[in-house]
Amino acid sequence: MSQSLSSLEAQIPALLSLLEGKTAEEGLRFLATQFEGSIAFSSSLGLEDQLITHFIYENNLPIRVFTLDTGRLFNETYSLLNRTNEHYGRKMEVYFPKHEAIQNLVNEKGPLSFYNSVEDRKECCYHRKVEPLKRALQGVQIWVTGIRADQSDARQGLQLLEWDDNFKVIKFNPLLAWTFEEVRAAIKEYRIPYNSLHDKGFISIGCAPCTRAIRIGEDFRAGRWWWEDNSKKECGLHTH
Ligand code: ADX
Ligand code: SF4
Repeated sequence: MSQSLSSLEAQIPALLSLLEGKTAEEGLRFLATQFEGSIAFSSSLGLEDQLITHFIYENNLPIRVFTLDTGRLFNETYSLLNRTNEHYGRKMEVYFPKHEAIQNLVNEKGPLSFYNSVEDRKECCYHRKVEPLKRALQGVQIWVTGIRADQSDARQGLQLLEWDDNFKVIKFNPLLAWTFEEVRAAIKEYRIPYNSLHDKGFISIGCAPCTRAIRIGEDFRAGRWWWEDNSKKECGLHTH
């Protein structure tokens, strides 16, 4: 299927009805066929993303899989990337920030500027994640993500397919309706490699300086940018 970007958004209602009743795996297969060559999955190597990677690699679906290496990830995350590549015999694409932007930022504001203010934190997220994502999504019409509705209040009202006006793509969230327990059970059942930090109280994992373990009863994303107000906790990849 090939069409101009402006007509892309208009296809959402028809695609939504074609996806009705399909499992996450079937939905991925369907869109991979419809949008072959212009569908890509961004993996943070989190639990949800490892499950989607499994569906893509095991079924040999023609979907690009890439990750954004911010340069500040946990060693455990790099180890998982390596284990995932070995497990599936694939090489996940890795996108890096532009070195001049990071060099300027760190020289100007220091290596920990993200703790100073929400603006400084968003500036770091922009250079390390958003700008590389823009490059990774060039030529893409369907952007697959591992977002689930119950990850945060802001994600509750999302649809399986969402128009992303920032990146001018259709976002496909195949695990939107899954619970955390369902994802965890599938990871176990299919013996999918996962980040060892999940066994140490980490749930949602991002960059090392901006992620901590959470205690029982704490919110799912309480360990991300924990020093900030809940309503500010998006890094700019996902704006609603
Ligand atoms: S974030 O906005 O807070 O960073 P979160 O960690 O919940 O996002 O992940 C939601 C989805 O965003 C993931 O399932 C993945 O599709 C995408 N994503 C987040 N971080 C990355 C990353 N470093 N590389 C690639 N995709 C990412
Ligand atoms: Fe920078 Fe933290 Fe955002 Fe990572 S999560 S890009 S270290 S501010």
